Amino acid sequence: MKKGIITPRAFAHFKAGHPWLRADEVVDRKLLPNRPSAIYFADRWWFYSPESYLRLRRIGPDQAGWMKNPRLERFTNADHFGAYFGQWLSAHFEETLQRKIAALNFSKDEDLCLRWIFSENDLVPGLIVDIFGADILVVQLLTAPIESFWFVLRKIISNVFEAHFKRPPKIVELRTATVRKREGLEIIEPEAIEPRPLKWNGLNWLFTPASSQKTGAYLDQRENHRRARELAEKFACRNAWDICSYQGGFSLHLLAAGLKVTAVDQSAAALDVLAKNVALNPQIDRAHLTVEKADAFEWLTAQVAAKNQADLIVLDPPSFVKSREGVASAIKGYTELNTLAFQCLARPGLLISCVCSHHISTAAYKEVLARAAKATDRKFEVIDMKEAPPDHQPALGFNEGRYLQSWFLRVE
Ligand SMILES: C[S@@+](CC[C@H](N)C(=O)[O-])C[C@H]1O[C@@H](n2cnc3c(N)ncnc32)[C@H](O)[C@@H]1O
Repeated sequence: MKKGIITPRAFAHFKAGHPWLRADEVVDRKLLPNRPSAIYFADRWWFYSPESYLRLRRIGPDQAGWMKNPRLERFTNADHFGAYFGQWLSAHFEETLQRKIAALNFSKDEDLCLRWIFSENDLVPGLIVDIFGADILVVQLLTAPIESFWFVLRKIISNVFEAHFKRPPKIVELRTATVRKREGLEIIEPEAIEPRPLKWNGLNWLFTPASSQKTGAYLDQRENHRRARELAEKFACRNAWDICSYQGGFSLHLLAAGLKVTAVDQSAAALDVLAKNVALNPQIDRAHLTVEKADAFEWLTAQVAAKNQADLIVLDPPSFVKSREGVASAIKGYTELNTLAFQCLARPGLLISCVCSHHISTAAYKEVLARAAKATDRKFEVIDMKEAPPDHQPALGFNEGRYLQSWFLRVE
């Protein structure tokens, strides 16, 4: 790389393999185009977003000179981009698919549901592709270059999928993420798609592709849903509260283990689907489910006042923090939520406490749990702490991709 084209601070991140360069980190802006593109800059290929403060996002591995061609240094045309990168993308997508399917170890009684391509973490920034049931792909288009090249990317993804599964995918395109606004892109409501049943850890699950949260389901919690069931059975829990339940990922598994479950969420639509999910599983006693449309903090505070207790509590709230400045207030919120849960747990009890934000480190969250335990005079043993599953693994050197923690605590 030529000296001085990025700032010294950016250079340190760049050397450590970080895949972003911000607008103010590029010293010589003359080198940059004014349209969404793929460009060769600082010895790497990047997606270039002219309107975003995240101006450059690295394509492919952190390898100086990768795919270098002195005559070809930028693409704005999708066909030209496809002609140059198509072969690598096809091979990369196929390798990623095979590796993730093998790592996730699906059993015969479940549908294949996984995050196939996870943006920077899978070396194609701005693109998220989730597979639901080996025929539906829900794609999130997050950045301007991905929009510009989508026509070609769609063809490559579709071909790789068809070669692998021997059938063409139904592709659902999602343009709803707010990050699109920073790229100068519109937010567009998705087409309405009929819900369809899927097998999730052996249970029936009504899945609505591209419904309001994530791409339709929390694929990243699949292993933790299973682990919750195992532990509830191991410790003979009789009742559970699933706080921030969404459509019942944890509830369904706990009900299947024979527990009485109260699912709490502020979204009536999510709770409606949860009830439908339960009805799809004849082995579950529907009378064991109670749903409460409520704010998690208010509902738990009311349980403390009423001295109600549960053997198992799941806390799986949305992220409380979107930027570094919000960390202190988020820590306060997480501490309050966990303190309320500790106050309501039977002795002994199980707490499953999840956090999804790369701004909260594992050490910081352990401290949150310790503070909540101290405030309520409880002690806990960490039985398990799981980070992202194999299909959501962060790329090396990309801390922003490391977002999920699920703590499983045995509380005395
Ligand atoms: C991360 S999702 C839960 C995913 C779910 N546990 C699963 O495994 O499928 C977070 C949920 O919290 C709900 N939520 C957000 N804020 C809330 C609040 N203050 N009180 C109750 N629910 C809330 C959202 O509607 C969403 O369904």
